[in-house]
Amino acid sequence: MVDRYGRDIYYLRLSVTDRCNLRCRYCMPADGICKKSHLEMLTEDEMITAVQAAASLGIRKLRLTGGEPLVKKNILSICERSAAIEGINEVCVTTNGTLLPQLAKDLRAAGVDRLNISLDTLNPDKYAYITRIGTLDQAIRGIESALEAGFDRLKINAVLIGGFNDDEIAALAELSRRYPADVRFIELMPMTENEEFGQQAYVPGSAVLAALPELTQTEQNDGVAKLYRLPDALGNIGLISAVSSHFCAACNRIRLTADGKLKPCLHSAQEYSIKGLDYAGMCKAMERVIQAKPACHAPLSAAERSNAGRNMNQIGG
Ligand code: 5AD
Ligand code: SF4
Repeated sequence: MVDRYGRDIYYLRLSVTDRCNLRCRYCMPADGICKKSHLEMLTEDEMITAVQAAASLGIRKLRLTGGEPLVKKNILSICERSAAIEGINEVCVTTNGTLLPQLAKDLRAAGVDRLNISLDTLNPDKYAYITRIGTLDQAIRGIESALEAGFDRLKINAVLIGGFNDDEIAALAELSRRYPADVRFIELMPMTENEEFGQQAYVPGSAVLAALPELTQTEQNDGVAKLYRLPDALGNIGLISAVSSHFCAACNRIRLTADGKLKPCLHSAQEYSIKGLDYAGMCKAMERVIQAKPACHAPLSAAERSNAGRNMNQIGG
């Protein structure tokens, strides 16, 4: 469906849970999240009805996010049922990768087309620090399991964090030589009041170009990512400059949170609840949220925080 500003909105990001088996410092509070009651969350059937409603309005691409989508018990069933919906021609999952050794093959069989795996560092101590409870080895095994299960066009996402991983740009980029995968550097978005990752932690995407003079720009762009390549690489290097240059004019998406709130914009507090609605009600709500998409969000910078009103684990990125 085309919105008020002429943008074709064909992409739904569905957060299937706000829970996660990690606690990344820029994403979640240390003690996890204030757990909402099950009654507030969408049921599996409601999620599927929502995807059907979205498909009826022209949504063709679905991404399942979280929190961590793979901690959701019925994730395979959600994938399988979503992939079978007429009109949905691409189902993607964004994951921290740590549960892929157990799940990659089943996700493939359930009709998932593509995976994005988050990995911010290749140093085991730093991985344990940033995720508070994770181990690097698990994440690496996750990437390798995804490749073994036959996922191609894999994407590895690293959030650039000054003083944390800006000294690892070359090492992370090297993954595009080790694996047939794109490595994408994402600018840290100022989502929450977080002293640890305040103004000094923001690193512009241009730092990647400065650190890697051997990068050449490729012809294509991949959605919001500007693509480059290292010599002899198997995959691309992507820059997602969500802060230094925004993508509003090319925005193609809506978001649905695990507690049933449709969001017209990542950086707006505006939400439309679909919890408890039937198919017809969800169709109407989706139409409304697409029409409510703003032309642009307010400026973001290290000093101007997002108006999203939620942490990232409650939106899904
Ligand atoms: N800025 C940019 N990316 C973020 N993510 C989580 N919080 C932020 C933030 N503030 C990323 C995760 C994961 C994806 C779901 O969103 O690292 O790759
Ligand atoms: Fe979990 Fe991803 Fe948030 Fe880390 S960034 S806590 S892996 S949802």
